Amino acid sequence: MDDVNTYEQQRDRFLERLLRSARGTFETFTVYIGHRLGYYATLAGNEWTTIAELADKTGTHKRYVKEWLEQQTSVGILEVEDTRTDEASRRFRLPAAHAEVLAAPESLNYLAPLSQIVVGAVRPVPQVLEAYRNGAGVPYGDYGADLREGQAAMNRAMFLKLMGSEWLPSIPDLHTRLRADPPARVADIGCGLGWSSIGIARAYPKINVDGYDLDHPSVEAARHNAEDSGVADRVRFHVRDASDPALKGHYDLVTAFECVHDLADPIGALRTMLNLAGETGSVLVMDERVADVFAPHGSEVEQLLYGFSVLHCLPAGMAEQPSVGTGTIMRADTLKRYAADAGFCDVEILPIENFFFRFYRLKPVCPVS
Ligand SMILES: C[S@@+](CC[C@H](N)C(=O)[O-])C[C@H]1O[C@@H](n2cnc3c(N)ncnc32)[C@H](O)[C@@H]1O
Repeated sequence: MDDVNTYEQQRDRFLERLLRSARGTFETFTVYIGHRLGYYATLAGNEWTTIAELADKTGTHKRYVKEWLEQQTSVGILEVEDTRTDEASRRFRLPAAHAEVLAAPESLNYLAPLSQIVVGAVRPVPQVLEAYRNGAGVPYGDYGADLREGQAAMNRAMFLKLMGSEWLPSIPDLHTRLRADPPARVADIGCGLGWSSIGIARAYPKINVDGYDLDHPSVEAARHNAEDSGVADRVRFHVRDASDPALKGHYDLVTAFECVHDLADPIGALRTMLNLAGETGSVLVMDERVADVFAPHGSEVEQLLYGFSVLHCLPAGMAEQPSVGTGTIMRADTLKRYAADAGFCDVEILPIENFFFRFYRLKPVCPVS
């Protein structure tokens, strides 16, 4: 058998892999263009479309549209009808299966907003370099609207569809409480644009939800989202630091969806969550499904998450000081340690299946044996 591990072979495989990565990076940025300029939404009807028609419908420039359509066809996202026709009558279309991923916000397979998160993550790159040099951080707000809105749009369908059909019903005592009287109260920490709070409220029509987040534009947008979703009378949003010990109240359920790893002071925030839940409330954390220990050749999810960590979650988490500097890769043992330090008795990993996320139930008190 040929030796496939000579120096030259290793070098060439690595070289090819970096070229593939650069191609993939450009592909993500061109998906961003199609997403933000409404090209995918316009092409989603599976109709054959000319350059001029797409430019006209989206109010964009024909020369740029031509380049984008050809690039998207070259990488296999779009199809071309017949390359022998002249440019003016050449027609392109978005296959239906691709349209679900790129232009169907209600689908659990909607992935176009990931391109927004990637673009947002590189927006303050000069500041990120500076942070690596001086150990400071990059404020969450400096990552801009793309990161904030992309994050919200990525999780939205899951929160609206799975919260009430799978996730919370799989926890029987909590599901019962959320349907019972007196109406339950829910606090949603680090709620971002509010889709988790809205998802819980839509699943359980009696309950009231308070969403808390430190980022003003997120809270502003969350209020609009609650209005548009018809739940603003039961779902309210507040600009608050989750780690603030002055955050008071009593809640039957306290949640933190994909945000504990972002917090400068996760132990302080978990302590707040414990206080808000008291001895009788439930505390639920959803965070990234990473491996139990660091190892080379991480899973695809972990490799993607390390990318976000290097560029965004770690620098953003370091912006407030003092910071524990968790980064995106918060392993189960790290959360368990934070929870114990905050005063929780135990952490249970819930048997909820999800490609990206792991669910933890933090126990305020342990049963007396
Ligand atoms: C990755 S986003 C998750 C947002 C939302 N839960 C979701 O799943 O889409 C993390 C959120 O944590 C918020 N955050 C960071 N530090 C915070 C703090 N100290 N108190 C409250 N929210 C905070 C950010 O503003 C951001 O909205």
